[in-house]
Amino acid sequence: MRGTGFLLVFCWVLGLLASTSFCGNVTYDHRALVIDGKRRVLISGSIHYPRSTPEMWPDLIQKSKDGGLDVIETYVFWNLHEQVRNQYDFEGRKDLVKFVKTVADAGLYVHLRIGPYACAEWNYGGFPVWLHFIPGIQFRTDNEPFKAEMKRFTAKIVDLMQQAKLYASQGGPIILSQIENEYGNVAWAYGPAAKSYINWAAAMATSLDTGVPWVMCQQADAPDPIINTCNGFYCDQFKPNSNKKPKMWTENWSGWFLSFGGPVPYRPVEDLAFAVARFFQLGGTFQNYYMYHGGTNFGRTTGGPFISTSYDYDAPIDEYGILRQPKWGHLKDVHKAVKLCEEALVGTDPTVTSLGQNLEAAVYKTGSVCAAFLANVGTQSDATVNFNGNSYSLPAWSVSILPDCKNVVLNTAKINSAAMIPSFSHQSLKGNIDSSEALGSGWSWINEPVGISKDDAFVKLGLLEQINTTADNSDYLWYSLGIEIKSDEPFLEDGSQTVLHVESLGHALHAFTNGKLVGSGKGNSGNAKVSEDIPIALVTGKNKIDLLSLTVGLQNYGAFFDKTGAGITGPVKLKGIKNGTTVDLSSQEWTYQVGLKGEELGLSSGSSSQWDSKSTLPKNQPLIWYKTKFDAPAGSDPVALDFTGLGKGEAWVNGQSIGRYWPVYASPNSGCAGSCNYRGPYGSSKCLRNCGKPSQTLYHVPRSWLQSSGNTLVLFEEIGGDPTKISFATRQIGSLCSHVSESHPSPIDTWNTDSTSGRKLGPTLLLECPSPGQVISSIKFASFGTPSGTCGGYSHGQCSSRRALSIVEKACIGSKSCSIGVSVNTFGDPCKGVTKSLAVEASCTERSEASSKTSLYGV
Ligand code: GAL
Repeated sequence: MRGTGFLLVFCWVLGLLASTSFCGNVTYDHRALVIDGKRRVLISGSIHYPRSTPEMWPDLIQKSKDGGLDVIETYVFWNLHEQVRNQYDFEGRKDLVKFVKTVADAGLYVHLRIGPYACAEWNYGGFPVWLHFIPGIQFRTDNEPFKAEMKRFTAKIVDLMQQAKLYASQGGPIILSQIENEYGNVAWAYGPAAKSYINWAAAMATSLDTGVPWVMCQQADAPDPIINTCNGFYCDQFKPNSNKKPKMWTENWSGWFLSFGGPVPYRPVEDLAFAVARFFQLGGTFQNYYMYHGGTNFGRTTGGPFISTSYDYDAPIDEYGILRQPKWGHLKDVHKAVKLCEEALVGTDPTVTSLGQNLEAAVYKTGSVCAAFLANVGTQSDATVNFNGNSYSLPAWSVSILPDCKNVVLNTAKINSAAMIPSFSHQSLKGNIDSSEALGSGWSWINEPVGISKDDAFVKLGLLEQINTTADNSDYLWYSLGIEIKSDEPFLEDGSQTVLHVESLGHALHAFTNGKLVGSGKGNSGNAKVSEDIPIALVTGKNKIDLLSLTVGLQNYGAFFDKTGAGITGPVKLKGIKNGTTVDLSSQEWTYQVGLKGEELGLSSGSSSQWDSKSTLPKNQPLIWYKTKFDAPAGSDPVALDFTGLGKGEAWVNGQSIGRYWPVYASPNSGCAGSCNYRGPYGSSKCLRNCGKPSQTLYHVPRSWLQSSGNTLVLFEEIGGDPTKISFATRQIGSLCSHVSESHPSPIDTWNTDSTSGRKLGPTLLLECPSPGQVISSIKFASFGTPSGTCGGYSHGQCSSRRALSIVEKACIGSKSCSIGVSVNTFGDPCKGVTKSLAVEASCTERSEASSKTSLYGV
């Protein structure tokens, strides 16, 4: 008790000193996390700090707060901070302390998932590759060398946070920490050692004395006091392993990740909202969106293999930091509705009753408060239910929230939030073309030599596994072999061709004979292995076979994921076509080179005196470094480079890697249904777009990495492409739409209230431009009556008020946001006795561009 009393005084003093101090005592009980003696319903969202820039953090966090979040969750990425053993790096995008403080500045809490195994579609699951080379090490099991390293890094992070006073117990924002990650999913593979490892991890974490609870996700046997939590698309049926622990959901997948060579997954918000509401309906009090902002895998940070550079995740805030609507807005409404139930939710367990087949009511009644959730978990039929003597309509696969056990403020299937059609506006990458550069194209280049060119090349008998050889210091490993063909060899018989057979554990390869690219092969996210038969022509005498093997992000998931391996482990064979003669080259003496000559020369920064700019720009040739200078597009809209026209490689802007690019890798043609029915259980392959098209053509360039002019772009192109085809794309909002019915349930505080009578007038239609500095510049469509269609394609119904357009224009043009009462009080009644709705499509532009137009309307 004395301790708590002291803490409260301490926190009060801190509160006087800083505007954003948090107070401290975080515990838990059966119902909820308890912060300073108060049980809380907490809405959380994942934002991984290195997947955006420090310049983007404040805006992303503010948008999270505006969306109704209380907590920001992030992993800590070990291999980002300790690339070299015992050398720590916490600068720039790696500045974890700054990130946590930025969240605190917005008044939000932090859930710090230290891991240090993360998974997260991050290279090697977050482990530094040097860990693999420690003698006797076995990852994620009861192994002394591993445990020593895991403890050292975990303690390092805890210490860093404690030094900066960031735990809630110290007045900081961190209310929760995670140790390990989903170990329960793979524990079976580690035998009895799994159990002792988890017990050790729990004890080790607890001993670090953070003063806040620890969680383990997907760990049914997490020992006390660790809280076991749920990850998944739905967690309403989850139960923690003790009645003393709250029901917590640490990963509610808001969409899914993208792989090179795969279609683009998305998750309809009606289903996501349904999952959230079901969780709170059945006793949950903490839920986290994974991801709330997915962001970008800059550099070589993607895992996989084959995870794309974009980690957009169909999250409520898109890769570029723009609100994804109506997802963000609808979830905001869900959060408001859930928060209206907070007192009842934390006060008691729900009483669940059936209202018929697939129909379920949960009531939280305690003292004078009462909140209810009504669910229709059927996938086909809408229903009408009777509850407490009233009748309620419940669409299929939806939940209605009644914070007073009477009035529905939200139904998860009815969206009362703006939709948005984002668009990219393209412009050419007109550099400051320097006449010295290749024939005015603005580009210069350096050829990357085929085969061995570095002094540190070495010779070994047989074929080597790649990760053990490169230690992931580069994506690239050359395997080079000289062979002598005598004139009487069967390969040359009748001038017939030979086949080079190459087998690799992955992830991709390019084969060259006598300096020429003869074939390429690649795996995919389901199967990284490559097996290719490449026709080649050999000559009598000396021949050279150069195989360039490459990784595309190291494995991040699964038992023993670290042992998956990569590279050309063979066999490599020469097969004569005619008589079937085969020569196995696998155990020959191969020469190896880790990395590229251009990497050794540091070409990614653009420096070097070797850039060629005199002759015709080489196009569609493999292994070339390209460089150009360019001016940033005007304005403040987020910027992407459209790499259509390139093959595969990596790109740097002003020396910073914007990631691997691979715009020629298209997804299979089938698998994308035209539309996706949100009703029924969601899975990662249920709702897909972009089938048959390149998985990723646009690559985010953070604004803060650009100067207004004289930026340097460097590309390393492996396969061949035309860099002059590259263009800019700026992320803009094409249209902002909303369609609200007079009868629409909507969160209580968005209802119009007559100030004199206090009478509710009906729902409101809200429009808000997503970026600061933007205003509504035009109303493309407005109809009050019986309009139909969807955003971008609304049309008037038979009933339509003639005044709608001018009323909406007057209310909205020139403002960042506007709200309009959806009722006959605003528009008059164009058709008595019919339920009417208001549909609006608007567009936003930068305030400066709009000012000339706004005068037209006299605003
Ligand atoms: C989970 C894992 C996360 C992430 C997610 C998929 O299993 O815990 O780190 O990998 O899957 O995006």
